[in-house]
Amino acid sequence: MTNRVRKAIFPVAGLGTRLLPATKSIPKEMITVVDRPLIQYAVDEAREAGIEQLIFITGRGKSSLVDYFDSAFELEEKMRGKGKSLEVLDSSRAGYGELISVRQQEPLGLGHAVWCARDIIGDEPFAVILPDDLMVGKPGALKQMVDVWENVGGNLIAGEEVAADMTGSYGIVTPGKQDGAVTEVRGLIEKPAPDVAPSRLAVIGRYILQPEVMAALGTVGRGAGGEIQLTDALAAMIGKQPFNALNVDAQRHDCGDRAGFVIANIVLALDRPDVGGKVRDFIAGLSPRP
Ligand code: G1P
Repeated sequence: MTNRVRKAIFPVAGLGTRLLPATKSIPKEMITVVDRPLIQYAVDEAREAGIEQLIFITGRGKSSLVDYFDSAFELEEKMRGKGKSLEVLDSSRAGYGELISVRQQEPLGLGHAVWCARDIIGDEPFAVILPDDLMVGKPGALKQMVDVWENVGGNLIAGEEVAADMTGSYGIVTPGKQDGAVTEVRGLIEKPAPDVAPSRLAVIGRYILQPEVMAALGTVGRGAGGEIQLTDALAAMIGKQPFNALNVDAQRHDCGDRAGFVIANIVLALDRPDVGGKVRDFIAGLSPRP
């Protein structure tokens, strides 16, 4: 058994209905933020955190995600022939054995998607990354979590305070002791209505989990929305293993949502040396609304 987090699961089988019509034929994870698809940001964050194996849980119509990380022989030959640098393609290429994809054949929820990777995870701690949550931080959110996890162990989730009327969109924590940015998780409930939510501390799309969570996923029944919920399996681990939430020092953009996608494009474009100046000038020249 290893004590390093080497494997990360990316649940990417969802239909992305909140982003229709684009998602009619493009997976939402392939929609671009500036010049790279959303999935690239999640993969870059994982690699920065030391992840060596990327496990995509895909579904029908999602093959372009795997193609994207393949080599593109004709394109590369053409570029070489024209003397163009291939650097722009570097991070989009997975190394040998770096990327594995598994099909989730039934839409039974996030917990079921994670469970589909149980044989690949085996007896190791693992990360789960939900690419919809684009995290902008230095170091990246998962790297921050790995650094904290090396001390606290057990299960560690990324947490963030959300507005009181938003608890119904997240897993919500019953908080225990707090130590700086780390809060002990005493309870966890999926998508509670604001009047029954135990706090406003929400689970956001990054997790470092123990392999025992896979066994728990195999036994929890269907939960909120009739789906197998990762939150329910995690709740079953409380009291058995250390369980904490880390308030990561990063900005989150919810790219499962139209406005979040547009904002992420603006924020990341402003930060880019190649296009930032133009975008900044354009925004500065916009007249205020009458
Ligand atoms: C999932 C989880 C939820 C978590 C959220 C973070 O919900 O089930 O606990 O708070 O991701 O983005 P989903 O957004 O898939 O409905």
